[in-house]
Amino acid sequence: MNNYMEKMKKTEKFIREKITNIPKIAIILGSGLGSLADEIENKTILEYKDIPNFPISTVAGHKGELIFGTLENIPIIAMNGRFHYYEGYDLKETTYPIRIFKLLGVETLILTNAAGGINETFKKGDLMIITDQLSFFAESVLRGPNMDEFGERFIDMSSAYDKEYIEKLKEAMMEVKDDYQTGVYAYMKGPTYETPAEIRALRTLGADAVGMSTVPEAVVAHHSGIKCAGITCITNMAAGVTNEILTHEDVKETALKAEDNFKKVVKNFIKKI
Ligand code: HPA
Repeated sequence: MNNYMEKMKKTEKFIREKITNIPKIAIILGSGLGSLADEIENKTILEYKDIPNFPISTVAGHKGELIFGTLENIPIIAMNGRFHYYEGYDLKETTYPIRIFKLLGVETLILTNAAGGINETFKKGDLMIITDQLSFFAESVLRGPNMDEFGERFIDMSSAYDKEYIEKLKEAMMEVKDDYQTGVYAYMKGPTYETPAEIRALRTLGADAVGMSTVPEAVVAHHSGIKCAGITCITNMAAGVTNEILTHEDVKETALKAEDNFKKVVKNFIKKI
């Protein structure tokens, strides 16, 4: 564990040497939000491969860069390319950047992602504010000796997604389109999409959407006192909800169509916090 802390300190030091004023808001750009990176001004880009001890993204189409700059004149850090468990990283690696954010003084984390719609009232292209999460089928990212430097062993999860942020996200959504959704995001490890039976089970358990990211990041952020906001793009209806066969191509295509609204919501939101 000390070794892990030493690794992180080295990463932190490298970033602090490159960036003088470190923003308090970090945004993880999920599928479909990558082009928000183009709208960031006054950019300094650090490629993951150049940051000591940083994991490197392996998914085709996912970039690997930390962007420091401003969006709507507000200082932000954008993580363009995230780390998924299904890529083969262990959970500590997938959430390494979040702990680095904490060391750098980040206070707000905006998590964005693509997910399958489980709630039958949802439709492809909808945006959903994440109000809570389900992750029964995956081990906790906090398993193992507790990192006391970051937070306590046993943490309350009743406001993993900050309640005030949820209200602000609703306002931000209303300014873009009034048919937004709210709901529970279920985490599955992937890389297969779920089976129809799994989706029926998840619906019974109370899930509205399902995806392969976000939950480990939200848990680590919440553990260390970073406030989280989560927005999901429903890129497809989950397996078995319709007769459509799921493909990554379709997921990407829908994400692209929803991108403009998605970007507007994020920009509206950061002006409110
Ligand atoms: N399941 C899991 N992850 C996803 C999905 C899905 O249906 N769509 C986009 N990411």
